[in-house]
Amino acid sequence: MKYIIGNWKSNKNHLEVKDWFQKFSQFFVKEKATSFNNLEIIVCPPYIHLFLTKNLRDKYKLPIKLGAQDISPFDSGAYTGAISAKMLSEFVEYVIIGHSERRTHFGEDDKILSQKVTMAKDASLEPIFCIPDKTSFIPDSISIIGYEPVWAIGTGKTDTPENADGVAVFVKQKNPGSALIYGGSVNPENALNFLTTKHIDGILIGGASLNPIKFWEIIVNAAKI
Ligand code: PGA
Repeated sequence: MKYIIGNWKSNKNHLEVKDWFQKFSQFFVKEKATSFNNLEIIVCPPYIHLFLTKNLRDKYKLPIKLGAQDISPFDSGAYTGAISAKMLSEFVEYVIIGHSERRTHFGEDDKILSQKVTMAKDASLEPIFCIPDKTSFIPDSISIIGYEPVWAIGTGKTDTPENADGVAVFVKQKNPGSALIYGGSVNPENALNFLTTKHIDGILIGGASLNPIKFWEIIVNAAKI
């Protein structure tokens, strides 16, 4: 099983979300539902679009799961602006924690990331825990680890599949039973290079996931592995 995860980051308005789903769903119409049984497809829209996204996913009967891009380190309550795990669990099954953009622009450190993991787990959400390099701290009980070298994010430069595969071996040895996902400038041209390595269990796609055609191309190729 391979994870194909789209991270929309801070992009798209209401109409653009509708347009994405309309286009994306048309591709699925021509395919058998079972064609994607080897994939766990996850889309992570901004919080503000979770309600709409879930409705559109259900309306078009798409075989995809939803994830959040972040989560509050606190429970529900007096935390202005925060979105708690309990609130998210109405909409999503997964949550990205520790993305390097959260670490860099929002100052999130290992302590706060651990609190977020605890909140996610308590609400039965599955964390996709991102690390910038193989020596980064990973809390216990993480099942999905995203390896995302900072220099490869949004730059058009990827790590080599060989090096990323080596990182997968190293990280999985230290975290037995976990899945290792690669992220950083993945697109339809290079996605299979990572997905066909021995130890990489999926890909995290930023920029290319904003375009339903590119996201679809990646999925349809991955479905044939
Ligand atoms: P990118 O982003 O595909 O645009 O490089 C990857 C990520 O940050 O998840």
